[in-house]
Amino acid sequence: MDRHLVFIDVDKIDTLKRAKDAVKKLRDAIEYHNYRYYVIDNPVISDSEYDNMLIALRKLEERFPELQSPTSPTQQVGGEPRDSMALVEHPIPMVSLKTIYEEDEVRKFDQTCREELGVASIEYVAELKYDGLAVEIVYEDSRIKVASTRGDGTTGEDITVNIKTIKEVPLKIKKFGSTPPPDRLVVRGEVYMSIEGFNELNEQRESEGKSLFANPRNAAAGALRQLDPTITAKRPLQIFVYGVAIAEGYVFETHWETLEMLRKWGLKTNIEMSRKCDGIDELLAYHQQMQEERDGLPYEIDGVVFKVNNLAYQEQLGMRSRDPRWAVAYKFKPRQATTILQDIIVQIGRTGKLTPVAVLEPVQIGGIEVTRASLHNQSEIERKDIRIGDTVLVERAGDVIPQVVKPIKDLRDGGEKKFKMPKKCPSCKTLTHTSEDKKLTRCLNIDCPAQLRRSVGHFASKMGMDIEGLGPKRVNQLIDAGVVDSFLSLYTITVDELMELERFGESSAQNLIDQIEQSKKKPLNRFLYALGIPLIGTQTAKILTEHYDTIYEIMDAKMEELERIDTIGPEVAKSIVDFFSEKKNRKLIKSLDQAGLEMPNKSIVREGKLEGFSFVFTGALETMSRREAQDLVESHGGKATSSVSGNTDYVVAGPGAGSKFEKAKKLGVTIISENEFLQML
Ligand code: IVH
Repeated sequence: MDRHLVFIDVDKIDTLKRAKDAVKKLRDAIEYHNYRYYVIDNPVISDSEYDNMLIALRKLEERFPELQSPTSPTQQVGGEPRDSMALVEHPIPMVSLKTIYEEDEVRKFDQTCREELGVASIEYVAELKYDGLAVEIVYEDSRIKVASTRGDGTTGEDITVNIKTIKEVPLKIKKFGSTPPPDRLVVRGEVYMSIEGFNELNEQRESEGKSLFANPRNAAAGALRQLDPTITAKRPLQIFVYGVAIAEGYVFETHWETLEMLRKWGLKTNIEMSRKCDGIDELLAYHQQMQEERDGLPYEIDGVVFKVNNLAYQEQLGMRSRDPRWAVAYKFKPRQATTILQDIIVQIGRTGKLTPVAVLEPVQIGGIEVTRASLHNQSEIERKDIRIGDTVLVERAGDVIPQVVKPIKDLRDGGEKKFKMPKKCPSCKTLTHTSEDKKLTRCLNIDCPAQLRRSVGHFASKMGMDIEGLGPKRVNQLIDAGVVDSFLSLYTITVDELMELERFGESSAQNLIDQIEQSKKKPLNRFLYALGIPLIGTQTAKILTEHYDTIYEIMDAKMEELERIDTIGPEVAKSIVDFFSEKKNRKLIKSLDQAGLEMPNKSIVREGKLEGFSFVFTGALETMSRREAQDLVESHGGKATSSVSGNTDYVVAGPGAGSKFEKAKKLGVTIISENEFLQML
């Protein structure tokens, strides 16, 4: 199978004509792989093969600016920030859907449609009702022209640059068959954030001491309406296109057919989860089934949508004042319940942030027992006027932390108590500080034991030093027993010490020590993240290690120098400088170094840095002969062998790679491209 891979040695391209040719080849290939990856979810190349093509394209566009184009795949990263959002008028108003909640209303909907059309039965398309934001995208001459939010239905906000950062949105329509795509295509769909993407974003924000999003919908809305599209580009947004408003030159007969065509043009639809339904029973069955499957879906839905499939019928049924007669949204029962707010406790985060948490009388919501809910901050509690002892309405969505929606004020008996964030830290009793807007309360004592629990937990976490077996419970146990009082003390624990503690046997103690020992080899970027410097998430940590070799260089980096790095702004730079200007922190790093933490920088491999690595080359190489490649490895201190074994670290595979490639795959040896190999040097 031709995997449509394009290898270009950018440095060898010296004329505009050759560059133009290469750019076209790269763009075609990247667009093809975007479609395979984002739209039909069936990629045929690895991420790194894809990245290499994108890197080559970016380099060429930099060297030959006359070849730059707003619809190049390189432009899917976000452009310049703007001062405000322009307004866009929709070519056809964006109407909403009538919402219904009861089975009877579905029967009525079907009956009215049948009577109006004078037919015995109607075919519908049942779809999911995504809980995101409605958007419109206009394509002209196959290229994205403008995208907008729904706004008031007539006019929305211009989110063109933001939409372009969503990988699932093609910048160009794919041609399908011999008929050219419409000159003008206006599609509608829902932009959303997956539950996983949302949780990761919030975890990241928490580690950076930023406020959290209440649900995926809010997070998606926030991301899409950013004035600075580079921020949008970093948020995990996705899209489902669910309809066509205009497709010039095309006449479709059914809604289903438009969905199929949208997919062929490269737009992301969700046909897999949609269904053609004959009559009411099938509609109800779909609703029932989706309600059951709802919790297993990777994104939030709040109901299903039924649409009359035949477009002539749709036309005939027409519109009411605000919504079409041919479609209806049948919402699920909200996953809400009322219960008693027994207490509000305060949790202390790793950066000293105090968060109020609702303690609830246990209540079943959608099959799960809920006992805690998020209350965010003092300002939020006051805004909603939530009091201890209140009967409150609690809502659950997906895996997201339950929220207190509102108090039921009518049920108050006067015994309820207002809540105030504590003046003293509940853990160390130091005075707390609350911001003027009451959205942030902190304990300012860096030695606060509650902070220590969180910071050691963060240090050992999966994304940090990844010390297996050192979860929150263990961390608490070790801190309470006085065995751990800093990151450093982790590296001096002994098996004997552990065995004196409850729930530790010889082998579990040894296991933990082994895990801690192994963490000494964790790469610098993980270590940096694990330190828990405010605003430094995994991404920023990685970027820092691409610019600096060692932790000491980062420790001594100046503000201006850090700010010169593309993605690092003044706030982040200041946070890094502040952290490392603390004597205590500098001492900690030195001590960890002396304790044997290697902090190897995997982002930069320099001369002599292939030492200890063995390479096997297979298939054709583009820029050099195999002999030359082997010499190159050796001159950098590595070993080049001719056969693949369990000791091989990397197999460099080019076109025509055969049995060695297969063997490497079998043995789980890392396979890289020639380009990646060159980048290691
Ligand atoms: S069709 C005329 N289909 O629900 C039909 N809307 O009030 C217009 N929504 O915010 C909408 N999933 O963005 C349609 N499969 C789906 C949908 C869907 C979610 C949203 C839509 C709008 C609201 C409709």
